Amino acid sequence: MMSPMSEPNPAPTEATVPQMAIDVVSIFPEYLAGLQLSLIGKAVDRGQLRLNVHDLRDFTFDRHSTVDDSPYGGGAGMVMKAEPWALALEHVLADRAGHGGGSAKPTLIVPSPAGAVFDQRIAEDLAGVDHLVFACGRYEGIDQRVIDWAAEHFELRPMSIGDYVLNGGEVASMVMIEAISRLIPGVIGNPESLTEESHEDGLLEYPIYTKPSNWRGREVPEILLSGNHAAIARWRRDRRLERTAEVRPDLLARLADLSEEDLTALERFESQR
Ligand code: ADE
Repeated sequence: MMSPMSEPNPAPTEATVPQMAIDVVSIFPEYLAGLQLSLIGKAVDRGQLRLNVHDLRDFTFDRHSTVDDSPYGGGAGMVMKAEPWALALEHVLADRAGHGGGSAKPTLIVPSPAGAVFDQRIAEDLAGVDHLVFACGRYEGIDQRVIDWAAEHFELRPMSIGDYVLNGGEVASMVMIEAISRLIPGVIGNPESLTEESHEDGLLEYPIYTKPSNWRGREVPEILLSGNHAAIARWRRDRRLERTAEVRPDLLARLADLSEEDLTALERFESQR
């Protein structure tokens, strides 16, 4: 069965060369339908992104479209069979060649709790790659031999989105695709909001407010109404430092270039605690 998303992307409205191709292989292609919404869907419509979702069961030939079997050596659960994965990934490689290929190998991201932990730095790194392929495993995982085979044809990146266990790689892939694709120039509406957000420079975001200035008796911090841009910038920086010190001291410890003013602010917060 072909999923609705595995159909070729619509013709771009403008003559645009896609900045990135993304392929996702899954036994639940419907899961990925959410990617068509919002900024990612619009980038696909504009031709900036090429996004194709493939149903792993399209690469099986038995009556039950079998994708799993019991583990050698025993143990709980089922293991995804190698051959459907190899055929699906070969299909992706052939499609890439049909689109002109590329000098580097495409990157194959295998979501797994056993992978390296995905973060903003990795998202930035992957936003510069021209072709990402996501292999969404289910059950106990994928036969290791096809992963080893794939390492010969792809840059292999086993990736975890955090220290907890999901039922499969689909949700993890959507998290990574959203984090990566919004960093591609032109995909997000306002590039300035990229430089001002949490994790971009290792600090969490400052608190934000909108109208009315008094809501149920709660006032917006006065400085934000002052029109003094330098003072507002310092206040915001201080709030970022304070929040990060409180909630994520591990991030603060990694920061190399704090100014004298930053250090003074941090000492002040520390003494007030
Ligand atoms: N699959 C199952 N758990 C996962 C996790 N934490 N990250 C990525 N993929 C997963």
